[in-house]
Amino acid sequence: MPDYQEFGKQIKRKTGIDLSLYKEAQMRRRLTSLYGKRGYSSFLTYLAELHVNSTLFEEFLECLTINVTEFYRNKKYWIEFEQSILPQVKGVNGNLTIWSAGCSTGEEAFTFAYISKSYLSSYQVSIMATDLDETILHKAKQAYYSEGSVVDVSEVIKNELFERHGHLYQVKELYRKMVTFKQHNLLNDPFIKDCDVIICRNVLIYFTDIAKDSIYQQFSSSLRQGGILFLGSTEQIFYPEMYGLERIGSFFYRRK
Ligand SMILES: C[S@@+](CC[C@H](N)C(=O)[O-])C[C@H]1O[C@@H](n2cnc3c(N)ncnc32)[C@H](O)[C@@H]1O
Repeated sequence: MPDYQEFGKQIKRKTGIDLSLYKEAQMRRRLTSLYGKRGYSSFLTYLAELHVNSTLFEEFLECLTINVTEFYRNKKYWIEFEQSILPQVKGVNGNLTIWSAGCSTGEEAFTFAYISKSYLSSYQVSIMATDLDETILHKAKQAYYSEGSVVDVSEVIKNELFERHGHLYQVKELYRKMVTFKQHNLLNDPFIKDCDVIICRNVLIYFTDIAKDSIYQQFSSSLRQGGILFLGSTEQIFYPEMYGLERIGSFFYRRK
């Protein structure tokens, strides 16, 4: 559909975000439904308004990025991670570098921060958490969460990880200090190097196979030898050896 291609071209020029690397049918469906709700009848009429209406533009970016997340999302894989995978992590000179890529509002990065206090207490752990969407990174830095984000967190962990402010939970400073949030586009920007663990869950599902192939390659180069890649529970690499990785658990890969 030429309208969509033209829309994509202009969005790339305006934002640097390359829609052609996101699965087209899925993206088109989401955007068509969004502009339909706002009373536009085509990509091009919607685009014209996006150029002049910042509220509409913010909403468009939100739709593009799908920020759904929670603490301990798909908990059984976090338990596998704690018990079977983390003991294999080695680091360098007592330091561990962790990258949560596509971190949304930060729940994944803070889940890791909490786990590392129990399982990696002999290491100096630094966590980089990145996302395309600057608005959610701002929320992540505040680290306030509602009940819906912590449904899979036990009472014991809630007490250790959060301070309560009325109905909200704020991550304690001890854990907030471990995480640095930064804007980063997985489809465009240089990757963080020398990582011991990369967690990238429920992000790659939106990308085309070509984009995923390039990202797997770059993740592999970003990991130290023996470093771990933790993917989402619908995201498997079929031929990990193509990227110098070996499968070591349900959704875990190790850099050879
Ligand atoms: C569904 S959330 C996943 C959050 C978390 N990793 C989890 O599994 O709960 C997907 C995140 O990917 C981010 N994202 C989408 N495209 C991206 C890109 N090109 N580069 C970096 N992050 C991107 C979105 O902004 C969103 O926060």
